[in-house]
Parts: sequence; C-alpha cells; structure tokens
Amino acid sequence: MEEKKHAPVGVFDSGVGGLTVAREIMRQLPGENVVYFGDTARVPYGSKSKNNIIRYSRQIIRFLRTKDVKAIVIACNTASALALETVQQETDIPVIGVIEPGARAAVRETRNGCIGVAGTEATIRSETYTKVIKRLRPDAQVIGKACPLFVPLVEEGFAKHHITEEVIDIYLSQMKETDIDTMILGCTHYPLLRSRIIRYFGEKVHIVNPAYETAMDLKAVLEEKGLLNDSEKTGEYSFYVSDAAEKFTEFAGSILPYDVAATRQINIEEY
Ligand code: DGL
Repeated sequence: MEEKKHAPVGVFDSGVGGLTVAREIMRQLPGENVVYFGDTARVPYGSKSKNNIIRYSRQIIRFLRTKDVKAIVIACNTASALALETVQQETDIPVIGVIEPGARAAVRETRNGCIGVAGTEATIRSETYTKVIKRLRPDAQVIGKACPLFVPLVEEGFAKHHITEEVIDIYLSQMKETDIDTMILGCTHYPLLRSRIIRYFGEKVHIVNPAYETAMDLKAVLEEKGLLNDSEKTGEYSFYVSDAAEKFTEFAGSILPYDVAATRQINIEEY
C-alpha cells in the first residue's frame, strides 16, 4: 500500500485546458505525483460524437495505466459528460470527473436555484450538468449555453483581447437577462476567461470553477482508499500530448505556477 501511495495520479483533457484542473490538484495536493495527458491531436472534443469521445477516453486511460497511475481525473467536461459512466464501469481504479463536483458547488452557492452552465456543444447537448444539478436540487432551473469560440480564443492567447469581450456578450447576453445567480464554467478553458466573465455578469452572479471542488473530491477518494501521498516532498509532474509538444509546453508555462521543462509526444492511436 505504501508503494501505491507514491504512484502518480493520471489527469487528462482534450488539450491544454485541463491544466486548470491539474493546477488546482497541485495546489491542494502538493505531495502527489501527476502524469498529465493532453489530446492535442484530436482537440476539440466539444464537436465530437459520444462514441468517439468514449473511444478517446479509453485509449487515454490505457496509456495512463502504463504509467501505473493509482487514480484518474477526467479534467475535461466533455469527456466527463459523455464517457465517465462508461469508463468508470470498466476501470478498477478510481476515475473522477469534473461535472459532479461542479454541479455540487453550484447547488451549494445558489440562493434562488437558477443556475447557468456554459460549456461545449457536446456537454450542453448531453444535459449531464442539468441531470446532476436536478438530482441534487430537484426544483433547480438550469440554463445551458454552448460557447465554442471560447476555446480557440483562449488557445490563441486572446483571453485579454477586446474581441473576447464581444464574443462573451454574443454568447451570454441572453443568459444575463435571466434570473441566474450562479454560473458554472463547464469547460476547462473557460476559467482562463474567468475575470472577464465575472466583470461581464457583475456581482449578482457567482461564478463556479469545477476545478477547485474536483481536487477536493480527489483528495477525499484518495484518503478513503488509503492512497493519499502525504510526502513532504513536492510531487513530480510529467506531461504528454498527442501533438504539438512545444506549443503545449509554452502554454503550460503560462497556466502553471512554474516552467514546464519538457512535454513528450506519443501516438495515442497505439493504445
Ligand atoms: N476540454 C474541453 C472541455 O472541458 C474543452 C475543449 C474541447 O472542446 O475539447 O469540455
């Protein structure tokens, strides 16, 4: 068991966005070793079918298991919405998604039960957030909105560009007219637009980033299974992608509080 405690946690996303979840895991669980995989060759997942998202998730889990991970965090809302249930049933280590933690945080924060969800097309179409929120609070009203352009804007480094303000307005102006008092950033890239979105909605709307609660869930699961790495030493982090390793390294350096030395590229179709 002692040896298993030191095994890494596997974290994956369709690309760089999941680093916002990895960052939170590193902050809350500094002793954990982390193996991160970003599927940069096949991003975006938000426009893909359920079958493909399940296939991709299975391949990534097979890859992460070659690194002897003790648990897996699906740091991608789209994969959490469409593949989590399936892969959880097939995997004998804990697999955690971001939807349940995000929904739980929103239900805790809302006063009037009116919750907005911004996400990819696939996440919003799946209505997974709506189902989980309603299970936790049956009288909740959930308003979803797909915001697909947010992803390339973030990836192209346009988070602070004035054009992003316009796109936020185009996607979210209708939501702003509703009674929502809480909004979930239901896509890993959106927390990188958080300050803009907070400014757009003003004080009346509480913005939820599921990453924080996801890291807490991971901690609880590892504790329960006796797998928490309580080492005093800061964990080791390694990064893998399916394409464009250099671009990922550069981007990761802007999200994580330290410089990423190297990212390795693998052929995920082999798994
Ligand atoms: N990582 C995805 C998510 O959180 C967003 C990007 C994509 O469409 O792949 O849903």
